[in-house]
Amino acid sequence: MHTLLNLLTSSSYPVIYTGAGMSTESGLPDFRSKSRGLWERFNPDELANVQALHNNTKAFTDFYRYRLSELNKYKPHEGHFILGKWEKAGLIKSIITQNVDGFHQDAGNENVMELHGSFRTLHCNECKKETSRNAYLSGTSICSCGGTIRPGIVLFGESLPQNVFKKAEQETRKADLFIVLGSSLSVSPANLLPLDAKESGAKLVIVNREPTELDTYADHLIGSRTIKELLMDINVHVEELLADKDET
Ligand code: APR
Repeated sequence: MHTLLNLLTSSSYPVIYTGAGMSTESGLPDFRSKSRGLWERFNPDELANVQALHNNTKAFTDFYRYRLSELNKYKPHEGHFILGKWEKAGLIKSIITQNVDGFHQDAGNENVMELHGSFRTLHCNECKKETSRNAYLSGTSICSCGGTIRPGIVLFGESLPQNVFKKAEQETRKADLFIVLGSSLSVSPANLLPLDAKESGAKLVIVNREPTELDTYADHLIGSRTIKELLMDINVHVEELLADKDET
């Protein structure tokens, strides 16, 4: 914990990179955790790609309606709010996230790059007309033009929003500290960014309770603490440092 605290307070451009492990302590499942990840219960090949949207429309819609109804039950945890405070205090510069729950913005972060889109919007796959969450949850799944309504999430096989990915690459190359919170780092091109940070000279810290695909590149691995606990522990010291700074 002290290593990460020292790195955070001695770096000039810390960037945070989050995956689904950031939101499990809010109650949302991640995708690949042993025995509890979403892909242990659902098959992404049948549900989370554009082919499924066209050829398996009912199962596709049921799956995303289920995920959205689950999301509505949960909210950001203390760790999300701490990251919001750290951005406001200038301690961290931005958050690059693979998550689609919108919890970072709900917790006060503004400089957030959502590589995989978000559940915040739903639109017709054909005419792009937007539909509200409530309409989708209460049964609207086909647009008046006949197209299928889908969340603003990047499906497998779709490309990432280029403007967002470009900004994430710029942030990654500016980082002198790149902290991964809760990702198996198994999905590209998102998982290229921690490597990019390393190649650009940043220190790479991976906080994850299971091994990830990039552990061998990390300067520090933290697997014994959950993300929320770790952020809360570090924040006790950060608040003291910020209080001292205010007094001087
Ligand atoms: N503290 C620390 N680590 C955690 C915690 C926690 N509280 N909860 C879960 N983890 C770890 C798990 O061990 C797992 O390795 O977080 C990691 C989450 O990995 P994934 O489930 O693979 O999620 P992610 O890396 O975000 O997936 C990337 O895959 O399915 C696609 O588009 C989807 O954005 C997602 C992408």
